[in-house]
Amino acid sequence: MIDNKTIEKFRKIETPFYFYDLDVLRSTLDTVKKESENSGYKIHYAVKSNSNPRILKIISSYGLGADCVSYNEIEAAMKAGFDSKHIVFAGVGKTDKDIIAALKADIYCFNCESIPEMEVIDQLAGELKKTAQIALRINPYIEAHTHKYITTGIEESKFGINTWEMDEVIGRLEGFKNIRLLGIHFHVGSQITRMSVFKSLCARINELQEWFSSHNITLDIINVGGGLGIDYENPENNPDFPEYFSLLHEFIELRPGQELHIEPGRSISGQCGSLISRVLFIKNGSNTQFAIIDAGMTDLIRPALYQAHHKIENLTSNGSIYRYDVVGPVCESSDTFAKFIELPETRRGDIIAIRSAGAYGEVMASRYNLRDLPKAVFSDEI
Ligand code: LLP
Repeated sequence: MIDNKTIEKFRKIETPFYFYDLDVLRSTLDTVKKESENSGYKIHYAVKSNSNPRILKIISSYGLGADCVSYNEIEAAMKAGFDSKHIVFAGVGKTDKDIIAALKADIYCFNCESIPEMEVIDQLAGELKKTAQIALRINPYIEAHTHKYITTGIEESKFGINTWEMDEVIGRLEGFKNIRLLGIHFHVGSQITRMSVFKSLCARINELQEWFSSHNITLDIINVGGGLGIDYENPENNPDFPEYFSLLHEFIELRPGQELHIEPGRSISGQCGSLISRVLFIKNGSNTQFAIIDAGMTDLIRPALYQAHHKIENLTSNGSIYRYDVVGPVCESSDTFAKFIELPETRRGDIIAIRSAGAYGEVMASRYNLRDLPKAVFSDEI
């Protein structure tokens, strides 16, 4: 809830900006930490979902590891207090420069997605006289039932190693003298709201475990990736971590001594952030009224890119209800946050909150149209 005192403070701040409610972030982290301690599962926070330095610092203070997709993210994580020994490096196209820097930083594990990538890591590690610990990211072939752009584990996905290539992969492993296999890694997709998807992943993992056992390969780690969705309709709802953890506990058959790793991003950073904007103009359209706000797709691209739904609130009106298309100022028709939604009568100068924007919001902002990047404002600063 954004209370009245906070709304009065918003009136004095230049918009648009991201507002982070740190109490929400901390309460989410309390739950995650409790679940992690109870289950013994290790959490690597997906830095890509929100790498704001202040947010990273708070998350690292809870003792989580970090899941990074570039050396810049690794550096940002280390700066925020994450120990390199608890950093994993994912990505289907890691550059030599990033691999070398990550090897020098002695990160915990590279999540590898192809034989050519393993060849390069092996070679670069050899040149640096290091051993790279790796996990094999395997394509689980599971439909995530989410937007197709954030579906990552089906046959046509560029991500992960195909199971038909696994014989060759393990055949090659012995020849890689500078690589040590730690385990296997998966990621089905993002914003997954059907728990049955994770159940299918567990079943696939159990099958693959049998396959590795039959090849006498011991796996120390099973990494199930991220993907737990949040409730965009109800921003006050926290994701159901207890249900998620108990599902994993119930359905994955871990072998003695094996560790289970998880990489949540959105479910940790999503609900604590809102994009705060001002209404510039109300404009009559042929079939609708446009509420033109000063935030655009450059500040929050999710609606334009994934037709994503974010709850929109007018924080400064309690008038009668009308319908509006809430749009940004950018020269693109896709710069639309919502169509034909109900809002209390909205006027120039009203403050609008676009909720559940903590994940993949600020991090995906761009300077298209040479717009300024949105600033971040924290609840304990105002
Ligand atoms: N692990 C891996 C390997 C990933 O690729 C991702 C996200 C995560 C973990 C974290 O997933 P999460 O728990 O946040 O769902 N920009 C999109 C989301 C892209 C997700 C990319 N991978 C959006 O705004 O919906």
